[in-house]
Amino acid sequence: MPIALIVLAAGQGTRMNSDLPKVLHEVGAAPLVAHALRAGWALEPERVVVVAGHGAEAVTRAVRAWDETAEVVLQAEQKGTAHAVAQAAPALAGFAGDALVLYGDTPFIRPGTLSAMAEARARHDIVVLGFEAADPGRYGRLVMRGEELLRIVEWKDASENERAIGLCNSGVLMADAALLLDLVGGVGNDNASGEYYLTDIVALARARGLSAGVVTCEESETLGINTRAELLAAERLFQDRARAAALEDGVSMPAPETVHFALDTVIGRDAVVEPHVVFGPGVTVESGARIRAFSHLEGCHVSRGAVVGPFARLRPGTELAEDVHVGNFVEIKNATLGEGAKANHLSYIGDASVGERANIGAGTVTCNYDGVFKHRTEIGARAFIGSDTMLVAPVRVGEGAMTASGSVITQDVPDGALGLGRAAQVNKPGFARRFMERLKAAKARQG
Ligand code: UD1
Ligand code: MG
Repeated sequence: MPIALIVLAAGQGTRMNSDLPKVLHEVGAAPLVAHALRAGWALEPERVVVVAGHGAEAVTRAVRAWDETAEVVLQAEQKGTAHAVAQAAPALAGFAGDALVLYGDTPFIRPGTLSAMAEARARHDIVVLGFEAADPGRYGRLVMRGEELLRIVEWKDASENERAIGLCNSGVLMADAALLLDLVGGVGNDNASGEYYLTDIVALARARGLSAGVVTCEESETLGINTRAELLAAERLFQDRARAAALEDGVSMPAPETVHFALDTVIGRDAVVEPHVVFGPGVTVESGARIRAFSHLEGCHVSRGAVVGPFARLRPGTELAEDVHVGNFVEIKNATLGEGAKANHLSYIGDASVGERANIGAGTVTCNYDGVFKHRTEIGARAFIGSDTMLVAPVRVGEGAMTASGSVITQDVPDGALGLGRAAQVNKPGFARRFMERLKAAKARQG
């Protein structure tokens, strides 16, 4: 059955006290809306529609970064969850299949839970995801008769008896897309909030003789984010889960509680991640690589056998081939290092390609920026870059070439050549001794 995913993400999130739309706040270095999209991918949706409102342009950019084919529709005024779903109607015109509704601010729905909902669709026209809340608070309540869901009542509109129900509405639901869009069209706003409630579709469907049922999940899966404190709680939960998943996948981590993961971090089996490593977005680390303590990685790929850190920084566009060594206080950006290349100490390598087995001496800097443009540095295979070399890009150091320590290299160095770009040394015999004596005598005269 083809699936369309509808993600509701129009809310401003006033309680975040932020200029950023709520769904762009991040957990695991990814916007909340990306978590919802990824959760939905579990059902391999054919169509993805995100309903945006506050900060729609920024939300659109973020959504597209995670799913190029997602459609973003605008809900200019937030009149309620049913009204939000109705905005997806034009985008889903003619779509035959099921629609799954997720909230953009609810990042932890598990794939297995969504599969269970898809299975339950064989028994019910509408399947709602519910949970037993430790504190049901103001959640909507699921009014059941046996296995049948009769209706959902919002807390504000509920009677005392209904408020006593512990089974709550997560907001996630699934139904035939055409039916869902038809039903939301019939929802009114005659209720305590004056909003168009998506939850009303259950009673409307039953009035047509259709059936509704419930799949339940852990309360932690339905954790929605409304405040900074809840965002922090979500981050902690995300990190706990990511650490546990990495250990499960065979990653060696002596202090997992100090390692920070991003939503899309991928780490191979038997890779070692030492304490206090931070993974920003877009990092893959292959099996058997070692990320040593206090390193910060984002947008990079680390191949098998490579060793990174301690105290290394890999920035976006870094590609380390097998057995590369990147040592302490080395920063790499938008650069590829070929197999077995080494940059072990105190260097900046940006907008560069470094050939296999090249050795970058301590203190080497690729001077890649002239204040307006960025330029590339090419370092050939087996080149030896002497310590404290400034490589003023654009510049190429050939295969097997060398640069003398302390050189400022402004011209290409041919293959196999030595580039020497520093003032020649002059020794002045006895000068230091005479100079010091003169200074000491001057001091003695001053008393
Ligand atoms: C909703 C449910 C409630 C459930 C709770 C779970 C309704 C009427 N109520 O209540 O039964 O227990 O979620 O958290 O659905 N949104 C829009 N456009 C709108 C309104 C909302 O995009 O016009 C989005 C919000 O950004 C949010 C989600 O829909 O991501 C839910 O809206 P919210 O206002 O938080 O609904 P609740 O009152 O929490
Ligand atoms: Mg809510």
